[in-house]
Amino acid sequence: MPKKVTLIATSAMGLESVVAQEVKQLGYEDVTVENGRVRYTADLSAIPRSNLWLRTADRVKLLVGEFEATTFDELFEQTKALPWEDYVPEDGAIPVIGKSVKSTLYSVPDCQSIVKKAIVERMKKKYGLATHLEESGPMHRAEIAIHKDHAMLTLDTSGSGLHKRGYRTGQGEAPLKETLAAALVKLTNWKPDHPFVDPFCGSGTIPIEAALIGQNIAPGFNREFAAEEWDLIPYNLWEDAFNEAEEAANYDQPLSITGYDVDQRMIEIARENALEAGLGELINWKQLQIKDFKPTQPNGYIVGNPPYGERLGEKEQVEQMYKDLGHIMQDYPSWSVYIITSNEDFEKLYGKEASKRRKLYNGFIKIDYYQYFGEHEK
Ligand SMILES: C[S@@+](CC[C@H](N)C(=O)[O-])C[C@H]1O[C@@H](n2cnc3c(N)ncnc32)[C@H](O)[C@@H]1O
Repeated sequence: MPKKVTLIATSAMGLESVVAQEVKQLGYEDVTVENGRVRYTADLSAIPRSNLWLRTADRVKLLVGEFEATTFDELFEQTKALPWEDYVPEDGAIPVIGKSVKSTLYSVPDCQSIVKKAIVERMKKKYGLATHLEESGPMHRAEIAIHKDHAMLTLDTSGSGLHKRGYRTGQGEAPLKETLAAALVKLTNWKPDHPFVDPFCGSGTIPIEAALIGQNIAPGFNREFAAEEWDLIPYNLWEDAFNEAEEAANYDQPLSITGYDVDQRMIEIARENALEAGLGELINWKQLQIKDFKPTQPNGYIVGNPPYGERLGEKEQVEQMYKDLGHIMQDYPSWSVYIITSNEDFEKLYGKEASKRRKLYNGFIKIDYYQYFGEHEK
């Protein structure tokens, strides 16, 4: 059984450094940032801890091996040479998924079936099985990912993606992924003792993620992970990780977090979601249109994901909304304002150049994160 494992925390494009910072905060030092992922070496307890705590990563994968491959033979032989039996028990289910980018071996279905055959052959030999593998046991989903002829073979430890925290009972038309919402909060200098407002809260993702961060609640506390079923990880490591999370949570931390939305139905959904997340009435929810918004405290943070105005007939209205926000915030220079949008005219409409901009993706939509530092942040 391996004492050390190499883990890959996958990340949305543009968020790699945020994920890396989270991995380091968990105490792991050997951290490398790559395109779309963060790689680190740690002991087995890092699997439960990373799944429970990483707020901005998409998944945690265990690296089984990597090599160069330009022929199916090379792919087969090198996959078979990897110690699959160290990770997967005799009855483990091993579906194989794949992707290939800019590589000689471009047919993903062929790569998947070759990898599957190689794993099965290896496991049959190691476990002394004459016929087929039962695959009736715990799920070990393998992935073959080839990029520029470099093949990586991983096992997914997460199960469903880490954005599935388990609190979203309802959503609006364009909900933000929980991992991106957490990243937006982490990219601010907000501290839990400052007011926090999302004026376009929709189903409440940003305020809920802020509250989880503010009270140091592990985002994975309400869900299960594929690797909980694995023989590889003694179950006490999961228990230790859950106990650590329970102890780290600071439910007494007072917070001033508010979500507004023009749509009363969204406010009801957001309130339901916050209850589901175990936050009770911690967050204030209120129906309000941006035109009527007025900060009530001397300083604080606004983090918002307004409509982008990409739909037909919506542009003018949305642009007016950006103008309204800029106009209101002119009178509150100590407040910090953070807005994501794909609208490239945002700064012009808002009436001020951002202190900082960061390119991100909301799904496949290219967006900018416009950051206006309040006077207390400068
Ligand atoms: C992109 S969605 C926000 C999604 C949210 N981040 C989530 O995860 O569910 C934009 C929200 O802005 C709200 N909105 C539209 N016009 C508004 C206005 N004038 N004032 C306040 N909210 C508005 C919409 O009702 C919608 O819920």
